[in-house]
Amino acid sequence: MIDKQSPIPIYHQLEEQIKSKIENGDYNPGDALPSEREYAEQLNISRMTVRQAITNLVNERYLHRVKGKGTFITEQKLEQNLNGLTSFTEDMKARGMDPSNKLINFEMIPANQSLAEQLDIPEHAPIYEIKRIRLAENIPMALERTYISANLIKGLTDNIVQNSIYQYIENEMGLKIGKASQIFEATIANEEEIEYLEIPEQSPVLFMKRTTQLENGTTFEVVKSSYRADRYKFMLDLER
Ligand code: GLP
Repeated sequence: MIDKQSPIPIYHQLEEQIKSKIENGDYNPGDALPSEREYAEQLNISRMTVRQAITNLVNERYLHRVKGKGTFITEQKLEQNLNGLTSFTEDMKARGMDPSNKLINFEMIPANQSLAEQLDIPEHAPIYEIKRIRLAENIPMALERTYISANLIKGLTDNIVQNSIYQYIENEMGLKIGKASQIFEATIANEEEIEYLEIPEQSPVLFMKRTTQLENGTTFEVVKSSYRADRYKFMLDLER
């Protein structure tokens, strides 16, 4: 319904209507939006007005245009709160989503110079190298390569790394995870990420590297994660 007598501009009324249809699930992510002509005829408004509403929603990332195909409802991204030091398993469960892992590689290797420095262990000391695809509701969200000092975190198994590493460290080993530092970078997916994350070539990914310590200050992991930029956004509270 459009109220032509309202002081609220018509394009804005249409924007709000489309937004609420997305929010209440009348329009689903990936669906094609009705054409400009359909809206114009149905609501008895000009195509220019419809175009303006759609352009605004494209700019606000509710919709996206695909050349030659039309306008589509954009997938809502998961908002990850960065204020706590949490695990993927915890993050997904907190959202009521079902986390799972696809294990690509799991082996014990000698630390090279760079990882040895980052983990503060001697060069060639044993480390676990774990490569996992992290899924939520069976959809790949991130590709994660984890390097863990094997003399510190002992006894990792296929089964453990297919579940939660943090849970094993805290609940099974009785160690406390303390703090981490994390860097973020925007990148374009490499071949491996395209394959494992099932994303098109040239897709953007959010790359992060986390170095995590136990409460006693010992570094136990270096993790390189590539998150799908079409699925993720991040939230941080800032104070001053
Ligand atoms: C997140 C972090 C990783 C961490 C992992 C632990 O994905 N980015 O740095 O290693 O959580 O997850 P889990 O306990 O589910 O194995």
